[in-house]
Amino acid sequence: MAIVKNQSGSYVQFTVILIGLLLFPLPSRSSDPDPLQDFCIGDTKSEFSVNGFPCKPATKVTSDDFFFDGLSQEGNTSNLFGSNVTQANVVAFPGLNTLGISMNRVDFAPGGINPPHSHPRATETGVLINGKLLVGLITTGNVFYSKILSPGQMFVIPKGLVHFQMNVGEEKALTFTAFNSHLPGAVVVPRNLFASKPSVPDGVLTKAFQVDKRVIDEIKSKFGA
Ligand code: GLV
Ligand code: MN
Repeated sequence: MAIVKNQSGSYVQFTVILIGLLLFPLPSRSSDPDPLQDFCIGDTKSEFSVNGFPCKPATKVTSDDFFFDGLSQEGNTSNLFGSNVTQANVVAFPGLNTLGISMNRVDFAPGGINPPHSHPRATETGVLINGKLLVGLITTGNVFYSKILSPGQMFVIPKGLVHFQMNVGEEKALTFTAFNSHLPGAVVVPRNLFASKPSVPDGVLTKAFQVDKRVIDEIKSKFGA
């Protein structure tokens, strides 16, 4: 790195370094970091908090740690949205700890919706197993992309973008989704805004949505808020 003297005699090394960093940025990660060992079965009960979970001692690891039965059962779709997301993330399946992957099973009643949401830590892909599913996503530039899928067809949702799926068929629908994070997180937009604890102030919501308080109260009441 060159050290340059300016006219007043002060060094401008800092400026040169800054320009260097702007022109040649350090590599950045777009998904979970790579593991540093074969496996690290998460000790989800540990009182230590790290970026992930500490590893269960290798001597205590058994075959069961690498298998998970949690996605084999149909989820209960008798709810407001007519859908159910069963998560196989590191919390449910500690064998995923540090591996940068996870899955969900999403069941839909006819007409059911997995409401608009985003995953702050992962890109999502999915394959439709049964039914007829409208899958949509909205970009940061407010462009809406969507398609109606048949069984065997796939979709991808770029990291962090708001998306939804809606069963537009006469029968139940089922999809399995996968993520490049062991804990993708989900911001479910209607719950996030209208059922947070404590609540977002009404004045914020009325102004943001350009409606009066009655509308906000009605929406909040649907979510028991
Ligand atoms: C579907 O969008 C899912 O998050 O599983
Ligand atoms: Mn999703």
